[in-house]
Amino acid sequence: LSSQKKKPKNFKFPLDWVKFSCAIVSGKRAFIAGVADDNGYGWAIAKALAAAGAEILVGTWVPALNIFETSLRRGKFDESRKLPDGSLMEITKVYPLDAVFDSLEDVPEDVKANKRYAGSSKWTVKEVAETVKDDFGSIDILVHSLANGPEVTKPLLETSRSGYLAAVSASSYSFISLLQHFLPIMNPGGASISLTYIASERTIPGYGGGMSSAKAALESDTRVLAFEAGRKGKIRVNTISAGPLGSRAAKAIGFIEKMIEYSYVNAPLQKELLAEEVGNAAAFLVSPLASAITGSTVYVDNGLNTMALAVDSPTLST
Ligand SMILES: NC(=O)c1ccc[n+]([C@@H]2O[C@H](COP(=O)([O-])OP(=O)(O)OC[C@H]3O[C@@H](n4cnc5c(N)ncnc54)[C@H](O)[C@@H]3O)[C@@H](O)[C@H]2O)c1
Repeated sequence: LSSQKKKPKNFKFPLDWVKFSCAIVSGKRAFIAGVADDNGYGWAIAKALAAAGAEILVGTWVPALNIFETSLRRGKFDESRKLPDGSLMEITKVYPLDAVFDSLEDVPEDVKANKRYAGSSKWTVKEVAETVKDDFGSIDILVHSLANGPEVTKPLLETSRSGYLAAVSASSYSFISLLQHFLPIMNPGGASISLTYIASERTIPGYGGGMSSAKAALESDTRVLAFEAGRKGKIRVNTISAGPLGSRAAKAIGFIEKMIEYSYVNAPLQKELLAEEVGNAAAFLVSPLASAITGSTVYVDNGLNTMALAVDSPTLST
């Protein structure tokens, strides 16, 4: 068992094959909600979609907007904007977004007056969808890559009602709201995708504050929305259950490095999980290659979800 712990030297799956993939979403327009730096899954999905031929629009959380736009303008992300063909990912437009507010009437006065919000306008979900419609007419792909749980470090048993509801509002209802408002401008045959986590169905101590409940809701909603959006707009709805990544959001939870190590040691594929791999799976799922896949939770986690035994457990070595 000790050999299980040894990291294979620099082992990576041959992602350079991706270079030879066809432009599976060529000419399609994607709106990606939840990009505020170049570390998270949203950025990786944007890159995979750009590499596969899509035009990229992003929605950035209002408090993070200024620093994201400044960094983008100053070239701080240029290295990570590089696509497999050597060109740089272009983001056609960055929209300010706060996905916990559906329309302006929902925004409390203190938020309107907050100086982090006062410099931007039209950032509620309804207004963003209207602005995208005014700017471009329609989209084909909707990506939800955002979550927030103010009490995520608290056990569920100690979570307050407001903390729980805030987690569900930011991490689950935000997807319903986005799909509700964007569906009328999504071209038939389009698709949406969100990001979930295994804590929805198996207990991960430490992923608290109602975040496990929020992910369970997101997965259930994926099935119901797949039916409703499929019938109403010929739109597919799937979610990716991703393995651990050291993103800004994950670092706020506090034990992400241990989760990455745990996955490395215990997953069937003993390799680092790259954000790029989740990006590629998302590009496949929103492309016509996945035209009969909807309502699914797809695991992109080196297979960790299939394990029922931690192979590095000290119990096994006695
Ligand atoms: N990192 C992981 O280990 C992991 C594993 C499985 C699933 N996920 C999921 O992936 C998704 C992306 O997270 P990430 O880990 O890549 O981190 P991230 O920090 O890159 O993304 C989270 C984004 O959500 C945005 N956000 C928070 N509240 C918002 C709001 N009210 N309105 C608009 N945007 C808001 C943040 O600004 C940030 O850009 C999340 O749904 C997360 O739960 C992450």
